[in-house]
Amino acid sequence: MFQERVLSGMRPTGALHLGHYHGVLKNWVSLQSEYPCLFFVADWHALTTHYDDPSIIESSTHEMVIDWLASGIDPSQATIFVQSQVTEHAELFLLLAMSTPLGWLERVPTYKEQIEKLKEKDLGTYGFLGYPLLQAADILIYRAQHVPVGEDQVPHLEMTREVARRFNYLYGREPDFEAKAQEAVKKLGSKMARQYNELRTRFQEQGEEEALEQAHALLDESRNLALADRERLFGYLEGSRKIILAEPQALLTKESRMPGLDGQKMSKSYGNTIGMREDPESITKKIRTMPTDPARVRKTDPGNPDKCPVWALHQIYSNNETCMWVQDSCRNAKIGCLECKQPVIDAVIKEQLPILERAQIYMDDPTLVRNIIADGSEQARKMAQETMRDVREVMGLG
Ligand code: TRP
Ligand code: SF4
Repeated sequence: MFQERVLSGMRPTGALHLGHYHGVLKNWVSLQSEYPCLFFVADWHALTTHYDDPSIIESSTHEMVIDWLASGIDPSQATIFVQSQVTEHAELFLLLAMSTPLGWLERVPTYKEQIEKLKEKDLGTYGFLGYPLLQAADILIYRAQHVPVGEDQVPHLEMTREVARRFNYLYGREPDFEAKAQEAVKKLGSKMARQYNELRTRFQEQGEEEALEQAHALLDESRNLALADRERLFGYLEGSRKIILAEPQALLTKESRMPGLDGQKMSKSYGNTIGMREDPESITKKIRTMPTDPARVRKTDPGNPDKCPVWALHQIYSNNETCMWVQDSCRNAKIGCLECKQPVIDAVIKEQLPILERAQIYMDDPTLVRNIIADGSEQARKMAQETMRDVREVMGLG
């Protein structure tokens, strides 16, 4: 109903690795040319778990934005910003907190899981309980429709939708809603108004989802409506409330399970990562010391690539021909493992060349990154303020 927007965030937790690059950043890069995109550093979210060690937050933020830029996120296409620079997020978080049942937060699966997993930290805090609600505020404040995230974030998106629905239910009521909605229908012009009414009837009387979709498309086309009228007309299709906050959808990043050096998913907590900006010697060393199929003690022992984490990397980095060469040479003991690893080493190093080159520009001049963040935060703030104006008004704070 609002302008189509993509939004996603990442906590600043240190240098990014190839798992982030293949799993998240490449996806962001392709999205930025399809939609208006907002990408932000969730530094407040990092503080919910690292409140006792804020020293890393600033440098991690800076390095992480360099990693984003180096992988091709383009500040002239996407808005790059830092959460704490747009303090409106905190205001919406506070206002949403008024009506969010505690049970919703306690029931989010990541809540108990993380408390269990990070036992060395005391996460029995108010801030950590509020993590998903802060995330909901991040999303709803931009009325973003699409939120690219991994599987683990799906419960947060579900909660965000519930929060939006509850908000619209509580605050979308207007005493003269019906009359105002009908006024707004007229403003569509006679032809569109007729179509709108027909589609609304089809949805309300026959429950035709298709009619609802068509009506949404029709409203999307009608660019000359005031925001309040758009809210009414979207809400009027389905009931008797305005839609003030839009319900977002997860844009599931297809499970690009970037394998780590040990064959498990690449993750900092497993210590099996290759950095996005790592020097060639270190990359070479890490891959040369990777474990392989234990059956291959000697070069003459045949192996099975399915039991080898190097094969998992070949599947990402090697073309068909090389993959066939690996299969044949491994199973028939034609090569040693070091020989098999070399094409992977070469490919990883080659992949990083343009990344390093782009990163260098930003490493040489830190003010570039600071300016990108300042500009992006400024743009984001403008969008956030628009939503907050509506939110304040319906909550009696206008
Ligand atoms: N919780 C997300 C993560 O850990 C980070 C995040 C914070 C986020 N706010 C967001 C992601 C809003 C998407 C949208 O990955
Ligand atoms: Fe793994 Fe290649 Fe060695 Fe086979 S030859 S075990 S695929 S490294």
